[in-house]
Amino acid sequence: MDLTFKIVPFDSEEQKATIGLRHDILRAPLGMVFTEEQLAAEKDDFHLASYQEGALVACLVLHEKDADWLKMRQVAVAEKCQRQGIGQQMIEFSHQWAKEKGYKIMFCHARHSAADFYERKLGYAIVGEPFEEVGMKHFRMEKEL
Ligand SMILES: CC(C)(COP(=O)(O)OP(=O)(O)OC[C@H]1O[C@@H](n2cnc3c(N)ncnc32)[C@H](O)[C@@H]1OP(=O)(O)O)[C@@H](O)C(=O)NCCC(=O)NCCS
Repeated sequence: MDLTFKIVPFDSEEQKATIGLRHDILRAPLGMVFTEEQLAAEKDDFHLASYQEGALVACLVLHEKDADWLKMRQVAVAEKCQRQGIGQQMIEFSHQWAKEKGYKIMFCHARHSAADFYERKLGYAIVGEPFEEVGMKHFRMEKEL
């Protein structure tokens, strides 16, 4: 099925919809909610939304650390759309987009459960020791663009 990608402006209706998806996939299962402060801190980030037949199916957030380094955060695919290649295609799109913008390295804090996905499918490497975030084991993972 046709998948389209769009960088949506902060505070637009489209970006607000991504927060709903992120809540359902990443926060609600942990019994957590986003705070106003956390969401406001994303003002200068890039918000990528993925659509299938007009419906939001996946999203992620890109945060600029410096001119070379971009942090990929909040990767979420709607539950009924997981394991269909959407996450992989969306991240590959973000790599191409970042490369065109001149960034050199993408990195993320990957949940233990998703580390294999980033490593096997997307060419990320684990850097350093695992650590705890939102009560779960995470790895720092990096990829040269
Ligand atoms: C993890 C996630 C982003 C992957 O996106 P997706 O669209 O489901 O993944 P894809 O279909 O593109 O996966 C591509 C490949 O990775 C594998 N894969 C997907 N999720 C995986 C996971 N959690 N662990 C290991 N492998 C995984 C798939 O089996 C597939 O491999 P295959 O084609 O050989 O079968 C998505 O499942 C998701 O949102 N999960 C819940 C939230 C989450 O964990 N987010 C990441 C936080 S770091």
